[in-house]
Formats: sequence, C-alpha cells, structure tokens
Amino acid sequence: MAPTLPRVPSSTDLSGQSVLITGSNTGIGFENARQFLELKASPVYLGVRSVEKGEEAKKQLLNDPNVKKNNPDAVVEVYQVDLASFDSVASFAKRFSEVKKLNIAVLNAGLSFFKYVPTSDGYETVLQVNYLSNSLLAAHLLPLLKAGAAASGKPSHLAFVSSKMQNLTSLKKDSIKPDENIVDWFNNKANFGMDRYNVSKLLLTGFTNELASKVDGNQVIINSMCPGLVATNFDTNSPFILKYFMKGVRSLMARTPSEGARALTLAAVTGAEGNGKFYSDGKETPPAPFLSTEDGKKFQKKLWDQTLERLQTVDPTVPSI
Ligand SMILES: NC(=O)c1ccc[n+]([C@@H]2O[C@H](COP(=O)([O-])OP(=O)(O)OC[C@H]3O[C@@H](n4cnc5c(N)ncnc54)[C@H](OP(=O)(O)O)[C@@H]3O)[C@@H](O)[C@H]2O)c1
Repeated sequence: MAPTLPRVPSSTDLSGQSVLITGSNTGIGFENARQFLELKASPVYLGVRSVEKGEEAKKQLLNDPNVKKNNPDAVVEVYQVDLASFDSVASFAKRFSEVKKLNIAVLNAGLSFFKYVPTSDGYETVLQVNYLSNSLLAAHLLPLLKAGAAASGKPSHLAFVSSKMQNLTSLKKDSIKPDENIVDWFNNKANFGMDRYNVSKLLLTGFTNELASKVDGNQVIINSMCPGLVATNFDTNSPFILKYFMKGVRSLMARTPSEGARALTLAAVTGAEGNGKFYSDGKETPPAPFLSTEDGKKFQKKLWDQTLERLQTVDPTVPSI
C-alpha cells in the first residue's frame, strides 16, 4: 500500500485566493477543487473539456456540506478547454484573461493511450494533451499568476500534475540525434512506444524544471508532483485487458481520489522551498534519473528551446516567457 500523504497544514487558509484546476470535473482534479474550496479559496475555476460535466461538478461542489460550511459564499466558474486542440487552448486563454489575476493554477488534465492517435492538429494525442498543451497553458497563465502575486503581495503557485512513471522510459542518451527536433521525434509514429504516457510526464517535469529556473520564485512558485496510484477512471483509453487488470489493481492498492488530490493541494501551497521541486508521496523526490545526467540536462535545455519555438508556431498569441 502507498504511504499516507502528509496532511495539509491546519493553518492553511486560502481566503481571497483564486484557483484554476484543469480536468476538474472528475477524478483527482474534482477532489482537488473540493479541497481548495474547503480551504476557503474563491473563485475556483474549473477548466474542463465538457461544459456539461463541468456544470455538474460545480453543482456537486457547491452542495458539498463542508464547502457550504467553510466557504458559504464560494464562487465556482466553469471554463471550457480541450487540450487536444491548440486553438481551444488559445481560445480558453483569451476568455480566461478576463479574470485578470490568479493565485493558484493546477494543471491536472491528462490521459493515456497505448496506441498512436493523432489529434486534429496532427500531433500524437498524449504528447499534445499531457505535454505541449500544458506547456502552452502555463505560458498563457503566467502573466495572470504574476498579476495575482502583485495584488496579494505573496507568490502565486503553478503546479503540474506529473507522475513518477517518468522514471520508466526507454529514452537513452543517444535516442534522439543532435540534429533532430525533440518534439518532431516524439511526434513521429515510428518512435511511439508503450512508454508514451511515462515519456509525456518526463517531458512535463523537464519543462517544469526549466520554467522554474527562469521565472522569479518570488512571483510564482512552480513545481510538479505525482499523486501516486489513484482509483479513478484514468484507464478509460487502455486496451480491454489492461483496463480490467488495472481496475483490480486500483481497487486493491490505490489511493482514493481525495487522498491523491492532497498531493496536488500540498504542492500548490508550498513555501519558497517548493520552487522547482518534484514531489512524490507528498515528499520532495528527485525527478527521473535521466534528467539529472549530463546528457539529460542537455536534453532538458534543448527540450525547453524547441518547445517554446513550437508553441510560438502552433499559437502565435502565446506570451513569451
Ligand atoms: N490515477 C492515477 O493513478 C494517476 C497517477 C499519477 C498521475 N496521474 C495524473 O493525474 C491527472 C488526473 O488523472 P485522473 O486519475 O484524475 O484521471 P481521470 O479521472 O481520467 O481525469 C482526467 C481529467 O483530465 C481531463 N482530460 C482528459 N483529456 C483532456 C483534454 N483533451 N482536454 C481537457 N481535459 C482533458 C478529463 O476530462 P473528461 O472527463 O472530459 O475526459 C478529466 O477531467 C492526470 O494528469 C494523470 O496523468 C494519475
């Protein structure tokens, strides 16, 4: 069984703080939204693929007895965003800029596929949803998070939901030749493997590390975390046998969505010490060993440069970081 996660410090009070959580209509993201509301955050913005599911989640959250008790005037708003479409992310960013400032963003939406499924943008779906769109979203949200920090006089938080599965990839130091573009390499069907989900989370943590080293931690504290194995519907897109195998595994060994969500809440309320860190089981943990090697560091730097270039191409409205 996974160890019990630390409790959120009882002194945590998010009164007056605004929070965005993506993928918050269900699973870990939904419970994370509930926890922020119980901690008195408001407004809480639900970034969801389906407005209908988002509105249903909003209703459930506002009817929760603990939310009603702790945060009776809570405001919850639903914003549509589909991470499988760069246009949708750009359109979300435009609509969401009306909030002017934000204190906490938890980029939680994610999925897994064991087969190569291209999006309408021509990217492999897991690469686009888990990595490219989350990076794009982060770039769009940073100005709002900085404005939130300026207004509150304390750093905002940007937390990416990653996974310790990033440790299990077939990526080696010479997998990608020096003259090859990393994004294109991963997008090439010939390089798609069963470790794609793990790779997407390694890329996300590599990007988070670089981002945290570039943004002033007094303005935005940036980190990533793994919620551990959690009993959600995460295996929806898995092959039939794996789906049912994982259902059994999750029913026996996984954390509840509420406990898994605590990993997100904890990462999103750290002090300055949390900047640039990866957390697993609620504890600071080294990211994938590959990222700490000399080759991994070069890879991370190149990944950063080539990702930013690509974001400019797929969305010319993206603010520079
Ligand atoms: N469950 C675990 O054991 C585990 C372990 C480590 C990390 N994680 C990470 O935790 C996060 C949440 O996963 P979960 O377990 O809560 O899974 P989940 O129950 O399947 O929830 C995933 C959420 O992401 C949303 N989403 C998926 N594709 C999207 C897209 N294209 N655009 C916008 N939203 C999209 C889903 O929306 P719909 O409801 O509309 O599909 C849903 O709200 C993921 O990043 C996952 O990688 C999970």
